[in-house]
Parts: sequence; C-alpha cells; structure tokens
Amino acid sequence: MNLKAEKYPHARILAIESSCDETAAAVLEDGSRILSNVVATQIELHAKYGGVFPEMASRQHILTIYPVVEDALNQAHLSLKELDGIAVTRGPGLAGSLVVGMNMAKALALGSSLPLIGINHLEGHLYSAWIRMDETQPYTPPEFPLIALIVSGGHSSLILMKGHHEYERLGATLDDAAGEAFDKVARLLGLPYPGGPSIQKAAEHGSTTAFAFPRARLEGTWDFSFSGLKTAVLRKVRAFEEEGKVLPVDDMAASFQQAVVDALTEKTFLAAEQFGARHILVAGGVSANRALRNAFTSQTRFQVHIPPLKYCTDNAAMIAEAGYFRFINGQRDPLDMDVFPNWPLV
Ligand code: KG4
Ligand code: ZN
Repeated sequence: MNLKAEKYPHARILAIESSCDETAAAVLEDGSRILSNVVATQIELHAKYGGVFPEMASRQHILTIYPVVEDALNQAHLSLKELDGIAVTRGPGLAGSLVVGMNMAKALALGSSLPLIGINHLEGHLYSAWIRMDETQPYTPPEFPLIALIVSGGHSSLILMKGHHEYERLGATLDDAAGEAFDKVARLLGLPYPGGPSIQKAAEHGSTTAFAFPRARLEGTWDFSFSGLKTAVLRKVRAFEEEGKVLPVDDMAASFQQAVVDALTEKTFLAAEQFGARHILVAGGVSANRALRNAFTSQTRFQVHIPPLKYCTDNAAMIAEAGYFRFINGQRDPLDMDVFPNWPLV
C-alpha cells in the first residue's frame, strides 16, 4: 500500500459518526493528534426500552448533530476552511441514524469544497489502534501482519491485516455478536442496558467458575458462536426461577463473561500463531471489557494493541483516524455516496 503521508503534512480531518446511538464528531491533525473528540450519547434515552430504539435514535441524532459538530470545531479552535477533509461513517449501522451524519457531512463538504471520505464503521474501530494517545509517551504503532479482533454490539470478526487496508476476513460470529450476547444475557439477569458494562460490574463480585457455561470451539474454522452460551444462561435462569431460588446474578455474570473471554482469546491467539502475526489488535465496544483486556495483556507472546476505553465504544476519533489513512491514500467520495456499504469487512 502506497501511503502518501508526506504529501499531506498536518492534514486535518473532521469526522462524523452516527451509526447507532452516539452522535459524535472529532478533529484529527497529522493522523495522530486528536484536537477534539465530542460524543453525545443516547444511552439514557434507550435504557428504558432495554436496547436501541432506532426511530428515536435517528430523531435524537437530528437534534444533536449540529451542536456536536460545532463543539468539535470549537474545541479544536478551527474553522471549516482550515480543514483538509471530512470523513463520515458510511455503515454498517442503523440506516436512519447513518443518514443524519452522512447528510451533515455532505452539506459541510458541499459548502466548503472539502473532500468527502466515506468510512466503514468497523474499519474505524480497527484504526482506533493508530490514534496516538499521549504525545509524551513512546508510541509503537501496530505492525503487519496482524490479527485483528473486532468485538462490538453488531459484529465479532477475526481479520488478518497484511497492510493498511488489506484485509482477509478469517471468521465471524455465526449468530450473536459478542456485545449482543452481553446485552441479551444482561437482560436475562435483570441488569440494565447497555449489558456489557453491567455484566462487568456484577462479575467483579462473582466467581468465574461457579457455572460451567459452554465455549463453542467450532474446530477447523475461525468463526465464533454465542447463541449456545446465551441459551445455557437462559436455562439456568429458568431453573432458578422454577425452584423459587434467588438468582446468583454475580456468579452467573462472572461465569458468562469468562466463557466469552475464553472463546475470543483462544481463537485470536491461535490465529496469530498460525498466520505468523506478532501483533494483535482488539477493538470495538466489547474491547472495553476489563476481563478481556486483562486476558489479552497478561501474556507476552504477542504485542497487543487495545485502545483506551474512550476509543473502544463508538466515537468519531476512530473515524477520523481511518479517514486520515484513506485520505492520504487518495480516497475521495462523491456527494451522492450512499449509506450501507458492503466494503470492506462487513
Ligand atoms: O462498538 P460499540 O460501541 O457499538 C457497535 O458498533 O456496536 O459496541 C457496543 C457494544 C454493546 O453491546 C455493549 O454492551 C458492549 O459493546 N460493551 C461492553 C463493555 N462496554 C461496552 N461489553 C463488555 N464489557 C464492557 N465493559
Ligand atoms: Zn461500533
């Protein structure tokens, strides 16, 4: 891949992300310095429904998109004419939500004659690993070939990355995404939305070995499956209910979380070994999970890159980072670009 970073010194990218329930905008300079990173979360709005309510999400994006973008520019102390490009999440995500960010980005690009760069949301998660977190600290970017594990609310994929923008999808979940499993099991256990952080919290007081929940190994493939695990939790919950016993929520959360962590780490390490990758990249909302992070970082065979918590869940800084790499690679998209791309990584 022939990246032309030197052609664009100090490139400044404004990015917009609105694929699900966060309205976000960020400004990135030089491909490494986050000048602003604004996230307006809708979690409270959706919590009472136990999950994202798509129609409400898009209405809320409409209300917040303008102030969020304005905030991102103000915090970066930049005006539109001082930017070099506008990156925007193109999908996958909720159509009604994506359209709001996309239309904002198109309007800004049209009004300012800046190039528009459409970004795959999952590529955004991957590129969060290239955000330089602290300029005072030494920085080691991920090295290729690497194995990337994307674990979010909608996807669980194992990817071999041979270079920038060179992806080979090795496997993915056959049913629920890892984050979806966290959200559904949290609901079964009576824990609030979003399920991941609730389960993590409950698990702190529970035993990882209290229940022997299954780990689907799917030998000979790089795929994952979490529906059997979810059903096993459901059966246990029913059994406790039928016996009129109090649900040991903490133990169930800890045992469930451990089963997910084992399934994800085992296959990722195996893939890294098999494909000769010394670097592993873990991204997406579930990479915020403390047990998962510990399982990845407590070994020394591979160098593991996991973004800081604020860049794990949806944000626009990651879209800006992916946008920067696409921008210096010459990507320019038309103003009639659609949402719902099927490239790459879906
Ligand atoms: O990447 P993300 O913010 O949105 C999507 O692209 O889907 O991921 C959201 C998912 C949710 O399912 C949420 O429960 C999960 O990430 N999540 C976590 C944690 N924080 C967020 N899962 C486990 N542990 C966490 N600490
Ligand atoms: Zn995401």
